[in-house]
Amino acid sequence: MSEKTKITTKDIRRAKGARRLVWLTAYDTVTARLAVAGGADALLVGDSLGNTILGLENSVPVTLEMMLHHTAAVARAKPAALLIADVPFAIAHYSFDRVLDACAQLMRAGAEAVKIEGGTDMAPVIARLVAAGVPVCGHVGLQPQQVFRLGGYKKFGASADEAEQVRADALAVAEAGAFAIVGEMLAPATAAAVRDALPVPLIGIGSGADCDGQILVIHDLLGLTENPPPFAKPRARLADAAVAAIAGWAAEVRG
Ligand code: KIV
Repeated sequence: MSEKTKITTKDIRRAKGARRLVWLTAYDTVTARLAVAGGADALLVGDSLGNTILGLENSVPVTLEMMLHHTAAVARAKPAALLIADVPFAIAHYSFDRVLDACAQLMRAGAEAVKIEGGTDMAPVIARLVAAGVPVCGHVGLQPQQVFRLGGYKKFGASADEAEQVRADALAVAEAGAFAIVGEMLAPATAAAVRDALPVPLIGIGSGADCDGQILVIHDLLGLTENPPPFAKPRARLADAAVAAIAGWAAEVRG
């Protein structure tokens, strides 16, 4: 494998309008190496690790300790891609000291940036974190940490009011200094309008093609998830291949 140039938050910002960005989740050293070898620009240690690899129902029970454990494992791959870690449920809502301390711990574990869910409500916190030296990626539209308040996962920005709210959220977070913003489950027309209004890249997931880049959960892409969302078309069937390999070996052992 050839040496790759390290990607920074500056490179991500500069990609706006110049090239489409490819982001993937990674939860350990193996998935980090695969994602970088496949050409990912950024690796997100997403709190989706709760439902993707820890057997939890959603990201709400994911703790800072879990995020630190998996961030350190991804960092051990020494990825050329930018390493971003999610700030887990509720931490950003307690106090500034608490969120700054969580970000510092994630960065000591190897994260080069953090991702925080929230819009206009979270912009003042993001501005203070950025001033403290913590690069922040925003996350607007569907915010999975709000699943209990929302009563499920849904599309955002289909009505004019919701589209305006998503736009205001994204602009506030960008104004606060975020270097990029994930837009989850946005109605495609809203995603396109937000992308055009933003000075930083909009990274879409389930938001149509008119974004500055896309992010997917690596287990969905590789065919390791039982019920991937409809927008995440698997490009491989690794679960089937794994079961066939195990069954073949088991038959040989028993025979
Ligand atoms: O936690 C996560 O993996 C995410 C992505 C799906 C954007 O937030």
